[in-house]
Amino acid sequence: MASVPFDSREGVIWYDGEFVDWKDAKVHVLTHGLHYGSSVFEGVRAYGGEIFKLKEHTDRLIESARILGFKIPYTADEINAACKEILQRMKLTDAYLRPVAWRGSEMMGVSAQNNTIHLAIAAWEWPSYFKPEERLKGIRLDMAEYRRPDEKTAPSKSKAAGLYMICTISKHAAEAKGYADAMMLDYRGYVAEATGANIFFVKDGVIHTPIADCFLNGITRQTVIELAKRRGFEVLERHIMPEELSTFTECFLTGTAAEVTPVSEIGPYTFVPGEITKTLMDDYTAEVTPKASAAAAE
Ligand SMILES: Cc1ncc(COP(=O)(O)O)c(C=O)c1O
Repeated sequence: MASVPFDSREGVIWYDGEFVDWKDAKVHVLTHGLHYGSSVFEGVRAYGGEIFKLKEHTDRLIESARILGFKIPYTADEINAACKEILQRMKLTDAYLRPVAWRGSEMMGVSAQNNTIHLAIAAWEWPSYFKPEERLKGIRLDMAEYRRPDEKTAPSKSKAAGLYMICTISKHAAEAKGYADAMMLDYRGYVAEATGANIFFVKDGVIHTPIADCFLNGITRQTVIELAKRRGFEVLERHIMPEELSTFTECFLTGTAAEVTPVSEIGPYTFVPGEITKTLMDDYTAEVTPKASAAAAE
């Protein structure tokens, strides 16, 4: 499956309110979203047939569009129902869902006031984001050259396609050097996040994570903070300087795709996945597992 290009797969895609054949879910080359980055999306996971935090993802999708100045012409309830139906029609239980909204083709210039807003939702089977063997020993991160922009420079709090331009450049540069991903600083030089996941550190039993003031306050990040607090761990959200990395013993990433992924290296700094990382990996797995299937497995 992994080698089949995404535009050539089998199944159906929800497209502007209808289910269309996977291969027919197309856009025209003169689409504003393609030329001007006027597109927002979500990455959502389903475990055991249940979509994890669907409401939160849909609300964020609608909010991302609002930040970019457009309104998705479907309600949150309609989007949630469409997500559930696509999962059923594709007969998927452990899956990734990709809702995407974009400005259409009526106007082809910076101004796109009259463009139709489109929404599509695709779903496919989804294995672990990082390879399992990499996961256990921890992944290696490079330091990215690009920095996360402030809210006055870009719509940083939106999951806008255009913001991923610097993520793809940074991830490609890291991969070319043999790293799995890259850690980005923000415009002030503080530690921000990885290219598609938030970052956490551990020192003396305390968890430290950057304040999400110019990047996504990930739904997984919020979940993991809650799980950590439930365990009685102290969580400090604060500005972290890159020089501080030498003082941390554990490091991990969080994200819908990455889940909780241990990190063993960031540039010259090394970490050993320890008890707190392992506990939160297990707690996260338990949290996303539907309660009915967890009970059946016992
Ligand atoms: C740049 C970036 N930061 C953080 C995250 C984590 O967000 P979430 O946990 O909501 O998936 C993601 C993934 O969506 C991302 O792409």
